[in-house]
Amino acid sequence: MNDGRVTKEGIRIHNPEDFAGMHTAGQITARILDEVGAMIAPGVTTGEIDAFITRRVVELNSVSATIGYRGYQHASCISVNHVVCHGIPGEKVLRDGDILNIDVTVIHDGWFGDSSRMYVAGKTNRKAERLIEVTHDSLMRGIEAVRPGATFGDIGQAIQSYAESQRMSVVRDFCGHGIGRVFHAPPNVLHYGRSGKGPVIEEGMFFTIEPMINLGRPETKILADEWTAVTRDKSLSAQFEHAVGVTADGCEVFTLSPGGVFMPKLA
Ligand code: MF3
Ligand code: CO
Ligand code: CO
Repeated sequence: MNDGRVTKEGIRIHNPEDFAGMHTAGQITARILDEVGAMIAPGVTTGEIDAFITRRVVELNSVSATIGYRGYQHASCISVNHVVCHGIPGEKVLRDGDILNIDVTVIHDGWFGDSSRMYVAGKTNRKAERLIEVTHDSLMRGIEAVRPGATFGDIGQAIQSYAESQRMSVVRDFCGHGIGRVFHAPPNVLHYGRSGKGPVIEEGMFFTIEPMINLGRPETKILADEWTAVTRDKSLSAQFEHAVGVTADGCEVFTLSPGGVFMPKLA
């Protein structure tokens, strides 16, 4: 595996001890995402959810990677309905039928655990449920494309071809990223593309896959707060994110739910 090496694309190759560090960090993030599910309900504010996450990060002997990151001041991004990503927690009150993504990144023993999932406040409609299911399936199809010798384009094609076959669109303006002892490293992991294109995937690479899928058109815009990304056409958007490490024959998903809850309870 020749660990410690960096590929010509700037992608670090990690060793088995590094996998152990990422596993622990990823499991802390996944545990927090499991726990937070119990408090998602109409009437709760996104700020209250973020306060819980802020406390749990510290209690689990970790540091928030997002507090202080490029001036961001919260332990989570909470993106409701047509917010694509980087929603800022605050006074916003969840209403029955809202769908939301919660994205948490912790640093534990120097390793970054980055993951996000969808949740539903109360009960939502079938179209929104379908968006959530297709987005999760898109992520899992991307993960299934990961193995040594495949390329990053194979991941993008797996995600794009499935999402578009379901008449939904893939956001182009944000991507996954290399991760490890740094938050955002090469490569950019695109959620669209062509099989066989892009860098070759090698054992020991760590990166996230985090597709954002829209019911309407793929275009986004950033609000005046300089963080919140929304769909230009106001259509609903969903996202799931896992951090993975490439093994000899596939990948380890560091951020799998310890409680086995990957999806919100859909009717
Ligand atoms: N966790 C996000 C990601 O998946 C990054 C959030 S940066 C923040 O890469 F500053 F907006 F929190
Ligand atoms: Co990420
Ligand atoms: Co994230």
